[in-house]
Amino acid sequence: MILRTGSTGCRTKIHTDPTLSDRPTTSAGALEVHVWRGCDDGGFHVYNVPATANQTILDVVTWIQRYREPALAYRYACRVGVCGSCAMTVNGRPRWTCRSHVDAVVDGRRIVIEPLRHLPRIKDLVTDLTPFFDKWTDSGGSFEGESTRDDDFASVEPGSKQRQAADAGIECINCAVCYSACDVVGWRPDYQGPAALNRAWTLVNDVRHAKRDEILHKVAASDGCLNCHTHGSCTEFCPVGISPTAAIGGLKRLALRRWLRGARE
Ligand code: SF4
Ligand code: SF4
Ligand code: FES
Repeated sequence: MILRTGSTGCRTKIHTDPTLSDRPTTSAGALEVHVWRGCDDGGFHVYNVPATANQTILDVVTWIQRYREPALAYRYACRVGVCGSCAMTVNGRPRWTCRSHVDAVVDGRRIVIEPLRHLPRIKDLVTDLTPFFDKWTDSGGSFEGESTRDDDFASVEPGSKQRQAADAGIECINCAVCYSACDVVGWRPDYQGPAALNRAWTLVNDVRHAKRDEILHKVAASDGCLNCHTHGSCTEFCPVGISPTAAIGGLKRLALRRWLRGARE
């Protein structure tokens, strides 16, 4: 065992039994899997994993943890694309690993698996999502209704423009894939980022939400939507087909209108 201390302060025990890992050769039918171990100052360990039919990246990681490296840290819950907890960087691209089949995302037999970018590393493939969710608060991402329990259910017309705009972004699973894909988050760590701004867009379009104007104030701040360069990586990689780029474009338009209104008053 090696004890390492990462620059983020985490202390990680890394299993280095050479009979189990660190073998870069690949036998026929095996995948050569490079997995990040440790914190910021860690490194890649190489594992040979049997290739099987319909194998996902999460299956590969789980096989390594079960049969080669019990101390390997990674995160998942549902395995069916709902909880959003299994995202990792696979051959340089952020992906939900439980729904990413090896055959579909890897060219050849070499797989490189790392934690998501732009988030503090806790250990191995696990990142700290605290900054990601803090930004939901920064952009006003909590619903607050105006009705009381004595009021009747709110009726929102399914075909209304606002309802459709909210629907387009509402199925976010909070996986942070878009956040990891966004270069602006890397350049400017305080940028609220695509997921929080997409959430803000759904609430701005939710006619039951009491603080829609406050959201526009928050997303127009210096760390908000105006930082987006509209290059679309968030939309390209979002596994559930949401377009944070479009949501941010909508926020920019509404924030500008709000500002012009204020300037005229
Ligand atoms: S479109 Fe905006 S939020 Fe999306 S990846 Fe590009 S800069 Fe980031
Ligand atoms: S917008 Fe898409 S990529 Fe971003 S957190 Fe939500 S589901 Fe994940
Ligand atoms: S494990 Fe839940 S989305 Fe992948």
